Amino acid sequence: MKDYKRILITAALPYANGPVHIGHMAGVYIPADIYARYQRAQKRDVKFVCGSDEHGVPITIRAMKEGVSPQQIVDKYHAIIKNSFEQMGISFDIYSRTSNKVHHETASDFFKTLYDKGLFEEKETEQFYDEKAKVFLADRYIMGTCPVCSNPRAYGDQCENCGSTLSPEMLISPHSTLSDAVPVKKKTKHWYFPLQNYEAWLKEWILEEHKEWKPNVYGQCKSWLDNGLQPRAMTRDSNWGIKVPLPDAEGKVLYVWFDAPIGYISATKELTPDWSKYWCREDTKLIHFIGKDNIVFHCIIFPSMLKAHGNFVLPDNVPANEFLNIEGDKVSTSRNWAVWVNEYLQDFKGCEDVLRYVLCSNAPETKDNDFTWKDFQEKNNSELVAVFGNFVNRAFVLMHKLCGGKVPPLHSNLTDETDKALMENMQQAALHVQRSIEEYKFRDALFEVIDLARKGNKYLQEKEPWKKSSGDVPDNQKLIDNCLHLCLQLTANLAILINPFLPKTAGKMLHMMKVVDKMLDWENAGKIKLLSVGYSLRPPELLFRKMEDTEISLQVEKLRSGLVSAENRKQHAERVEPLALSMKPPIQYDDFGKLDLRIGTILSAQKVEKADKLLRLEIDLGLEKRTIVSGIAQHFKPEEIINKQVVVVANLAPRKMRGIESNGMILMAEDQEGKLHFVKPESAINAGAPVT
Ligand code: MF3
Ligand code: ZN
Repeated sequence: MKDYKRILITAALPYANGPVHIGHMAGVYIPADIYARYQRAQKRDVKFVCGSDEHGVPITIRAMKEGVSPQQIVDKYHAIIKNSFEQMGISFDIYSRTSNKVHHETASDFFKTLYDKGLFEEKETEQFYDEKAKVFLADRYIMGTCPVCSNPRAYGDQCENCGSTLSPEMLISPHSTLSDAVPVKKKTKHWYFPLQNYEAWLKEWILEEHKEWKPNVYGQCKSWLDNGLQPRAMTRDSNWGIKVPLPDAEGKVLYVWFDAPIGYISATKELTPDWSKYWCREDTKLIHFIGKDNIVFHCIIFPSMLKAHGNFVLPDNVPANEFLNIEGDKVSTSRNWAVWVNEYLQDFKGCEDVLRYVLCSNAPETKDNDFTWKDFQEKNNSELVAVFGNFVNRAFVLMHKLCGGKVPPLHSNLTDETDKALMENMQQAALHVQRSIEEYKFRDALFEVIDLARKGNKYLQEKEPWKKSSGDVPDNQKLIDNCLHLCLQLTANLAILINPFLPKTAGKMLHMMKVVDKMLDWENAGKIKLLSVGYSLRPPELLFRKMEDTEISLQVEKLRSGLVSAENRKQHAERVEPLALSMKPPIQYDDFGKLDLRIGTILSAQKVEKADKLLRLEIDLGLEKRTIVSGIAQHFKPEEIINKQVVVVANLAPRKMRGIESNGMILMAEDQEGKLHFVKPESAINAGAPVT
């Protein structure tokens, strides 16, 4: 173990193209914050940095879709994300952003340094280009039919239907998702970083010297290294991002994964003039908190960049977490299958610590894990309320009732085995929590804290001080004193131990005990003389409230309806797939020519019995009358639509619906709210007129 002088903690910079969800919190920000708060309580020299990742293709696409500038997008989400972190008590020393000037300069200089050392290879390649949208297309933005399973909506990098890894060339009838253009190849020049030159060094550094990294992290690194590394382009064609600082690089920016991690350095620069102490000295312990999709960037690419640059310290550990699923299903932002932190904060005011608790105790530390609202309620009610909150509350209520609101003395001659075991438990718990946090095992650590509170409840149950009060045994009051003295010292200990996890709760406990923040210093953990005898304490405050079934089922409903409700879809319009993504695959002109479309006039309309969606329509098609059954009953009253003109698919094969033969179909347009409108001629024309 190295003798470190300072600790630099980074948390992955979230993309500023949407709010953060609880998966981000559980995987990255809560563990990072627990670690930072713990290290501060240890009085170590800590800096905890983060910021918004504001470059990259997804942001430009979002902007294009919304018809605003990329800057407007990042401004909006940077504010929302920053606010969510603040409210959740994530204690960054700085939350910066990569569109800042300091960052542009820092990243630019970094690139320039590598360039001047002659480390980049300049290469011209052909890449797919959308001539309508006038942009180069990342593979993700090309769509077509999967050659393996015929899914018409496979992406240029992967088919989500059959899981095949694809390249755009493999797609059948590929098209751009930004316009409907067929992508064409176009030449472009980029600067490649020769990762393969770092392979030997990485193998030594990770596979030999960092065997202690988490198995999921170590394993991923090993498989990358075993497969061999390739040169990687560090520039992109785009006008959003950090300009490549070279002449002859018009329209080129730094690759977002080149610039973003440098954001950790820029943020530290912005935070303190002493920044180089944290970044350039061997005795800094650098820890990157990230999700599993970031492992290769933080363990392989960024360290190689740092190594190539030469002046910087390398990470000591990268405790990446796996993913958190929601109610048994993968998080999907496009389907709005997620629990958004900003929405949680609105729905559960004052319950920030509850979310911190549930996400930590359920963190996907070793494998993907599942969040369910039922479990959220369960953990709140049966652990926070029934165990932790209950113990603290009982200790305070009993102390007020039986000891006059003051810390009673400890009569050591009367302590028994049960008392001694409790004191022993406090010391053991402190050590255990400490060891677990230092090993990035936050779930275990938190479990230990709750278990200590559970032991407190058991102790009270065994001692039953409330039964002793009316007895006539002379030592009774002394026994009561001893019991509550220890319960109060345990409360103080619980405040110290819970502080990194639930800082607001620890704050409330400090207030009740009328002690200052300093008591929370980690050196006090495990001590049994934290509150002085005779000191008067405040009445208890409720630490946690019960979660009712109704509020929980409301959340489940909200989540489930997010999948279908037009209202919600509109609210989350930014996350909805671009129009082109929901388009059907192309057809040939001949296919279209088979349709016989005609103008019809509605002669009569009536509800179909026992079918609340269907109307039976008689339609005048000029030379003949047709019966058509149409699913529009929830959008129109029968009497309103008499004499209206519509477009009819006249040659659709007949179909029986509710016993009525329907001969055709009428065309409808659906608006954003999901309401239907007739498609009709601008002014009335003769029934039967062809639509071509
Ligand atoms: N924005 C990236 C993501 O959300 C993370 C960037 S981390 C950094 O996956 F290292 F680049 F900063
Ligand atoms: Zn497929």
